[in-house]
Amino acid sequence: MPKVYIKTFGCQMNDRDSEALAGIFLEKGWSLTAELEDADVILVNTCSVREHAENRAISFLGSLKRLGVRGKRLVQKNSENSLNANRYTLTAKPVIGLIGCMARNRGKELFKKMNHIDLVCGPSSFDKVFEYVDKIKKEKVRVIDLEDRVRNEEFYHASFRVDAHHAQVVISTGCSNYCSYCVVPFVRGNLRPRHPDDIIREIERNLSLGIKRITLLGQNVNDYNYAGTNFVKLLEKITKIEELKEIDFVTSHPKNTSKELFYLMASSPKIRKHLHLPFQSGSNRILALMNRGYTREFYLNLVKDYKKIVKGSLSTDIIVGFPYEDEEDFNFTKQVLEEVRFRYAYIFKYSPRPNTKAYSLGDDVPEKEKERRHAILLNLQKEISKSYDN
Ligand code: 5AD
Ligand code: SF4
Repeated sequence: MPKVYIKTFGCQMNDRDSEALAGIFLEKGWSLTAELEDADVILVNTCSVREHAENRAISFLGSLKRLGVRGKRLVQKNSENSLNANRYTLTAKPVIGLIGCMARNRGKELFKKMNHIDLVCGPSSFDKVFEYVDKIKKEKVRVIDLEDRVRNEEFYHASFRVDAHHAQVVISTGCSNYCSYCVVPFVRGNLRPRHPDDIIREIERNLSLGIKRITLLGQNVNDYNYAGTNFVKLLEKITKIEELKEIDFVTSHPKNTSKELFYLMASSPKIRKHLHLPFQSGSNRILALMNRGYTREFYLNLVKDYKKIVKGSLSTDIIVGFPYEDEEDFNFTKQVLEEVRFRYAYIFKYSPRPNTKAYSLGDDVPEKEKERRHAILLNLQKEISKSYDN
């Protein structure tokens, strides 16, 4: 039975994509392996949001060169018996695939540089990965697919789930917001909502597997709109699926998070009373440069409404060291953190991303200063999070 090894970098969306891919291989009679040396195919699902994530994936991909470049490789046959003269056997080199966001961002370059990579495939073409692997094995060719298109629905329909109790369901791919720092619209393409019936079918599949807790995934769930079914309507429909016990969703962009959503959250016992609401920066000047489409005052008002209507908890994402961020801007961010008291917060140091609008602004906050700001916010948040622990 052939074996596939899948390594995932990055976000929940990537976790779900890797799970769906694993499901396709399993349904075709393959098995999963956690041993690189055993794998017939190695797929590296990558993230491009920050340079650090890209570098980790590149060094992992680089390390795979030891498994052979084209054709055959030598592997140890019987490691316990070192006296056995026939210790080594010839096997085919595994097919190595660089897939996901970094394929779009750096794939062409890495395909040229690393000739042990056989497949480069962007997120839009994940539905074709199995087919490509088959072609590579049979025809001994290399394949690169960086298209931006709608995924075939079949991609989501295998029944393999990593967690027996909780499943993730993609409601849309891509993003059309173009926050100035963010590479997502370039690597995952523009926003593409899935048909509500397909989403519901996938949820029902989860129920048939005994999974009653789901997380809906979209880069900005509020942008979801399929022929008049907006996110609130979709969510309302989903709450009516009887057997389903708990629903939550990520991510909500503050600029179009509505009171209707809060009222639905408050009225449905099935919706978890938690909202991930990234504010990124507390400075209006920086928010404008980030192209976020809201001000600090707007954000704080939204939080007030949420706390009043939903009475739930909050989490957030923050970027420190965005171009031109000075001490005053940073203090505004700190104040928002102090004022809102999030249950938890993900705090990132700004990482310039090629193609994005912010890239042309340069990267003027020195690394040391980014680290200082990062540490201040981490410590502050640690104290705040502690108060939620008991
Ligand atoms: N640099 C640092 N952090 C970033 N994020 C997105 N792009 C960048 C970048 N270029 C962060 C944002 C986003 C989270 C998923 O990653 O905070 O909400
Ligand atoms: Fe990136 Fe902004 Fe889209 Fe989120 S909403 S994925 S930060 S462009």
